[in-house]
Parts: sequence; C-alpha cells; structure tokens
Amino acid sequence: MCGIIGYAGHRPAVPVVVEGLRRLEYRGYDSAGVAFGWQGRLCVVRAKGKLAALEEKLAQEPMATATCAMGHTRWATHGIPAERNAHPHLSNDGTLALVHNGIIENYQEIRARLSAIGYSFHSETDTEVLVNLISYHRRGGQDILSAFATALREAHGAYAVCLMETASPEVIYAARMAAPLILGVGTGEHFVASDIPAFLPYTRQVIFLEDGELIRATPNSYKILRLEDLQPVTRQEQTIQWDIQAAQKGGYRHFMIKEIFEQPRVISDGLTGRIAPGKRAILLPELDGLPIPERLHIVACGTSYHSGLWGRHLLEHWAGVPVQVEIASEFRYRERLLLGKNDMVLVISQSGETADTLAALRRARQQGTTVLGLCNVVGSSIAREASAIIYTQAGPEISVASTKAMCSQMLMLSMMALYWAGRSARMNASACQKQIALLDDLPAMLEEALPSMHERARQLSRIYAQAASFFYLGRGHCFALALEGALKLKELSYIHAEGYSAGEMKHGPIALIDPDFPTFALALDDDLFPKVKSNIVEVQARQGKVIALTNPHVDLHVDDRWDIPSLPAPLSAFTALPALQLFSYEMADYLGKDVDQPRNLAKSVTVE
Ligand code: M6R
Repeated sequence: MCGIIGYAGHRPAVPVVVEGLRRLEYRGYDSAGVAFGWQGRLCVVRAKGKLAALEEKLAQEPMATATCAMGHTRWATHGIPAERNAHPHLSNDGTLALVHNGIIENYQEIRARLSAIGYSFHSETDTEVLVNLISYHRRGGQDILSAFATALREAHGAYAVCLMETASPEVIYAARMAAPLILGVGTGEHFVASDIPAFLPYTRQVIFLEDGELIRATPNSYKILRLEDLQPVTRQEQTIQWDIQAAQKGGYRHFMIKEIFEQPRVISDGLTGRIAPGKRAILLPELDGLPIPERLHIVACGTSYHSGLWGRHLLEHWAGVPVQVEIASEFRYRERLLLGKNDMVLVISQSGETADTLAALRRARQQGTTVLGLCNVVGSSIAREASAIIYTQAGPEISVASTKAMCSQMLMLSMMALYWAGRSARMNASACQKQIALLDDLPAMLEEALPSMHERARQLSRIYAQAASFFYLGRGHCFALALEGALKLKELSYIHAEGYSAGEMKHGPIALIDPDFPTFALALDDDLFPKVKSNIVEVQARQGKVIALTNPHVDLHVDDRWDIPSLPAPLSAFTALPALQLFSYEMADYLGKDVDQPRNLAKSVTVE
C-alpha cells in the first residue's frame, strides 16, 4: 500500500522520481506527489488521481535543476483520496517534507500533544503528524538524524518513510519498520524505494533494509544506522537479476495481458534446474534439510490463498500430507493456534509483504513452528523472516490482479507435492515421472493454446458483459479455481461474482438463479465431471445460462461451451487458470475498466 521513492544523484531528480512512481503505481493510485529543493525551500507538488494528474501540474513547475527529490503514490488509509491528504506532507515551518507507506497507530495521541503546543494540521493523515513530530524534536535542538530517530521511536505502527530537509537539500533520509524499503546503489546516485522496479533502469545493486534501520544517502555516499542508538550497520549489497524488459509492457496493451501470456515462460523458468536426470524426481534443495511435516498449515490471502486451496489436493493426494488452508487475517488472530510439534506452516505471498501473512508467519514462528515461505519477491519481509524460502521466480508482476504469480505458486506446490511424495516413497519413480513429464510439456502446450483461448474469451465477453452477477462453480481442485475466477471478475470488472462449490448450490445459492444470472462452470474431464454435470443441469432447469470450461469430446450441452486442451487432473488447472484470467481481462477491458489498476485496490497490502 503506497509506494515511496527518494533520489539523491546527478540527474534531474523529479523525472527520475516520477518514472519510479509509475513503476510503483500498482501499490496505490488515488493521489501522488513529489518534493524537491528549490531556491532554499522545499517545493511540494501533489495531485488527486493518477500520476498523469501530477505530471500535468509538474509541467508548470521550475524543477529542472533539482538533483534530489522524493515522491509518493497513495492508497488511502487515513483520510479520503484528496490533494490535502496526498504526500509529501510538510512540517508547519516548511523545513521538512515526508512521504510514508504504512500506518502510525498512535498518531491521534501525538496529534493532540502537538496541537496543544500550537501545531496545526491541514490533512487527516498520520503522516502529517509524524513530520511535525520530527520538526518538534528538531526545534528542540536535536540534529536531523537524532530528531528523525527520536520521532520514529515514539511512533507505533508500520512505516517506510523518506524525509527531506531544507538545510540539506542534497540528502535523503529514510527508515523502515514493518514495511518494505530498499536502497539502490548507483554510481554517483542513490535511491530508496518500496520496490526494486522503481529504480531498476539505473541500478541492480541493492540493499534490503531491515526493520528498525535508518539511511542517510547523498549522491556519493550512504550510511545505514540503527534506529535504536544511531550506531552504523554494515550490510552486503546484492545484485538483482531482474530484466528491465520484464517490468515493462513490451508491446501489450496492459501488464495483465502480458503477464497472462508470460505463463508458459514462468512454468519453464520454474522447472529449470528442478527436474532430476531421467525426470524421475523433483529437486527442491530448499526442503532437503526439513522433515516432511505431519500436518501442513497453508496461510495466505487473496489469490495466494486460492493457490493454497488448490495445492492442498496435490499435497494430500500425492504426498499424503494432511493440509489445512487458512486466510491469514483469520489465522493470525486465532485464540489458540493448534500447531503440533512436527507441523509446518507454509505462507504463500507474491509480494512477500502482505501484512496479514507476515503477521501469521511471525505468530507461527513465535510458537517455534517451522515456517516455509513461498514468495515471488526476492528479499521481501516474508522471504527474510521465514525459516526456509522457495522463490516462485515469476519475475515482476505489475498488474494489480495476480495472474502469473498464481501459476508459479501452483507450479511450486505441485513440485513440493512430488518432492515429498518421492522422498516418502508414497509415489514410485514412474508415477512421479508421469506427472513431471506432464509439467514439462505444459509450456509448449500453453504457448500454443493461449491465442485461441484469448479469442474465445473475447467472444464470450461480448455476450456476457451486461450480466450483473455471476456464479463460478467447481468441485475438487476446481473449487479453488472457481473462487479465483470469481475474484478476478469482481476485482477487474466490478461485476458481482461468487465462487461456489458446485455441490453446495442446492443448499441455498441456487435460489438466485434466473435467466439473467449466468453461471461459469468448471466442467473439466475428470473423476468429478459427472457430479459437476448434474449440478449444471440443476442450474439449467432454473433457466440459468451456463458457460462451461471443458475439454473436447466431453458430453455436455450448455449455452456457451469453451473447450480447452485436455490434461489429466489436477494439472488440468494450468490450462483452466489462464482461461479464467482471460475472461475477466476481456470483460473488464470491454467494459472500459482500468485493467491494471482497478479501483480501491493495491498490489501489495501492507496494512491490516
Ligand atoms: O502479495 P500476496 O500474494 O500476499 O497478495 C495477496 C493478495 O492481496 C492478492 O493475491 C490479491 O488478492 C490480488 N489482487 C488478486 O488478484
């Protein structure tokens, strides 16, 4: 939630910051702003709405010579989306400017304290309170670093912040506590940002800041200090391998469609180096030192939760590991976590920064349970705090709607199931080999199928775009896909959609069916197909229209049939998933919705 970037270097800083904000816009986009030094003062420009509105305003500003600046793209927490609540926020005396990602939980208390001694506030934000608290300590005689650290020690909550001061316009200060912050180390320039793509065109050398650390960066130097006592900290720089092309649209109209079409590559990258010679076993050295759990608790949010629900079938069926899957915001507040001595928690998160998932991880670790992380973003908080980490290697996912990340999570879950199945000898080598061969064939199969799937999605969107509500039905492993299909449709096209277990329909929801309430049925050719077919017939008997995602030669009569290439269950999910994604994409695009940045959402949910 919210993206921040700071730059101290030799280039015109405002364009660098605005470009960085564009790459961070997935984190929030209800307003944006920048600050830069100009003629001895801090100039702040902010605008409600997307970055384009800010750019229009900036076109009028005298900023050409500033070589140090910072910016913010907002996802509202405190205060409605409005210019007055947009960041950066200035201190009352105008000498300090601050951008912030996170929530200061005790801001009302601090605000009351500062108001009582004459401070005034022009926004409803916690950030404006924090910048004035720093100013208060500065005016009390502390140097800027001490004032910054003292204020942050008084603030409770989560933050990644970047600060500028009129007295040192070539310096950026930043700090983190429970929100991501990365230092980019260039030649004659330094960056701080919420995510790596913000500065990827300029440097691949990064340092991941830890909680309770503070940075002072100039064009030619940086130092990292402990917030606690301002003692220096030494951290290793790391080189990021991401391809800048991967963080750009590459000729596609939207990031989402590009990311859907990247899935064959995501699968082949994910398999690289993971298949033993002869394809008889999966190599997952990350798990070699860990015992096979007696019970696995999968904890995640949103699409990552759906991956977990899907993965349960494989982990139980192939590896024989009993699995519970839980939403992180529920798991973290359970009164008693009944975790056995030999249990393992698996947290799944694309971003590795989702606040609820991170809190669930911490709670499980506090109980002494091994927590395995399945993450896409290298160096993210979850990746660093888990007992062991498996990276999904999907590359940067920019579109707010998660697509290729789910595919990569499903792939890794399949490999985990096969790895444990092989290790426990629950599955013999030739049974493993059969599934590995199917996985190995997937990239070519999908590559070939995606263009015609895209075309079918386009046709169906023209037929169904006027529907106000949808059911998505599935059974077994396809129930997780039904939930995901419904989530994708609602988040992108704002059409009400419910994912349901097909067998549950007759226990109530079927009452909603009428000719204007269509059903999207996952009717793949597997053992549960006859049951799903009966459920479809029940819908049809109530005049409900049905789209069925099915396979050639399946005996099924519905309003709109969508045949996708056949694959044995449960790996058939790898062909069904992009169909669901493409349908939602085409529905949203046809309805003129903002596909990559749907309203009210943010890519990385770093608040509760
Ligand atoms: O980064 P994470 O995987 O932890 O994110 C979890 C959810 O916020 C995310 O999957 C969300 O549901 C997406 N918007 C779905 O498209």
